[in-house]
Amino acid sequence: MERKAKETGKVSATDQANDLKREFRRLYGRDARIYRAPGRVNLIGEHTDYNDGFVMPAAIGFSTWVALAPRDDRKLSIYSENFSERFESDLSGINGKGARASAAAHWIDYVCGVAVTLERAGYALSGGDMLIRGEVPIGSGLSSSAAVEVAVGYALLEASGHTVDRMELAKLCQRAENEYVGMRCGIMDQFISCCGQAGRAMLLDCRSLDYRSLPLPGDARLVVCNTMVKHELASGEYNRRRAECEAGVRRLARLLPCLRALRDVTLADFELYGSELPEVVYRRCRHVIGENARVMDAAAALEGNDLAAFGRLMGESHRSLSDDYQVSCDELNLLVELASRVEGVYGARMMGGGFGGCVINLVAAESVAGFERVVARGYEQATGRAPEIYVCDTAEGVERL
Ligand code: GLA
Repeated sequence: MERKAKETGKVSATDQANDLKREFRRLYGRDARIYRAPGRVNLIGEHTDYNDGFVMPAAIGFSTWVALAPRDDRKLSIYSENFSERFESDLSGINGKGARASAAAHWIDYVCGVAVTLERAGYALSGGDMLIRGEVPIGSGLSSSAAVEVAVGYALLEASGHTVDRMELAKLCQRAENEYVGMRCGIMDQFISCCGQAGRAMLLDCRSLDYRSLPLPGDARLVVCNTMVKHELASGEYNRRRAECEAGVRRLARLLPCLRALRDVTLADFELYGSELPEVVYRRCRHVIGENARVMDAAAALEGNDLAAFGRLMGESHRSLSDDYQVSCDELNLLVELASRVEGVYGARMMGGGFGGCVINLVAAESVAGFERVVARGYEQATGRAPEIYVCDTAEGVERL
């Protein structure tokens, strides 16, 4: 059977907004304002953000949508379409709760975490009736969580009469995920969901938060293949990698006193001093330091429209994530390997935290259909699972429609 890739942005924003308005009226019997925040891809620069390093994300045409009507009694009434669940709370009641001690995070944690964090930062909220609809595939490494946080945060702030500073919102949403969900993520996902630009990728310095917008090639597409698996250890291993990087910084700082993060270590420094590190920490640091250099080279390649060079850097990034950082898995490696056999693929690499989720491919526009056939068939034959394939359009950051 012929398989068709999903294309992001297929339902127009206006149609989606109108549909949400109707649904909200049916649920709550009144009118709502509509907000949207996008998921993201990351072209290169993985596990560098929490090391004060460089990343290259782009916001994509899958969004989380929020319909909200303000209330003045500090109550939140929230309905999630994806989970068919309703949650009601009083902002004063949820205020004191910290991160869940264990287990997987629940969608409510992201919503309440943002509300609590905004209030703690001094933004008094009025409460609201809310309907949430997510288009970003959940748990796939396309940042469905950041999209929820940013859409909810933006909606709550606006509905409570605050002006929204996008950079500040990104930082507060990251804090919510760190402190309330217990995932020690970096700033990349929330930042691009706030500040993304349609048609462009972003070179972001995760220390200064300076960024440069980069052109995307007109004759190549960003194609994302979803393994459809998420191995259980993902979030525990994520926090462990972060701790290993911090251990590397502590050791190297004895030799390089100005060092604050792995971002400050050059490849030359690492050749000199890396041997002081225990084996595992050495490998983690080698990945991060090499990846930062690859991001800068990749930005130059993109600006020079050298897609072959860009693709090679993607391949190196994947090998480093797999061998040194050890966050890949069989399914991700298989998708990368299958992609390498297809004509017209410039590069492929795992994306996001790892242990499942998605591979991002840069594919010549005319080769997308062939790519999809070969990769989907190969993956299904080897694993018995059909991958989902998304041909991604880029999108603007969070907005009210
Ligand atoms: C997840 C985190 C990001 C980033 C990536 C890995 O997506 O949310 O902050 O660390 O993993 O690059």
